[in-house]
Amino acid sequence: MGDEKSVKDATVWSGHRDMTLEDVAVIQPGLGRIMPEIGARTWKAYYAAKAGHWPLAKFQVKEIRGLMELGAFTRPKYEENLNQFLEENWKPIEEAIAKEDFAAFDALFNKAIEAANAFHELRDKWFIKWKLPSQPPPDLDLTPRKK
Ligand code: HEM
Repeated sequence: MGDEKSVKDATVWSGHRDMTLEDVAVIQPGLGRIMPEIGARTWKAYYAAKAGHWPLAKFQVKEIRGLMELGAFTRPKYEENLNQFLEENWKPIEEAIAKEDFAAFDALFNKAIEAANAFHELRDKWFIKWKLPSQPPPDLDLTPRKK
């Protein structure tokens, strides 16, 4: 009776230490950890599209969608904003990439960044204004190619 253990007390071995379920939940990434990756992938998506390397642009934009869905799950207070952004700004970008239309992509990209920074302001992060770096990312080969 008294020595019954609830699932809350159960621990799992991470390979490095024991963790309770609560520990596992608490360390899931919030926007503070997810957003810097979104910024890096946004940079890559833009210059991949500009170079005409569409498979890479498509991949980066899909990864960003996945990261925003992850953020919407771990931080439900941002779910509505993130879903709105994905529907109104990201979906059209995905469509421009599917058509390999850089002029459309470029215009939609600029609109999406304005919307993203408006969300930063709305959520009291007015001091975070993302801007596109002036140079392409140095760590990926952007040469346009298909498999
Ligand atoms: C492609 C679109 C977006 C880009 C490129 C972007 C970029 C970034 C970057 C780079 C940061 C971190 C700054 C730093 O600490 O160095 C950040 C933070 C943040 N972003 Fe975004 N963002 C985007 C869209 C959004 C949207 C749609 C929301 C709506 C909820 C949002 C909400 C936030 C919040 C709340 C933070 C602060 C996270 C914290 O608590 O530390 N962002 N963003």
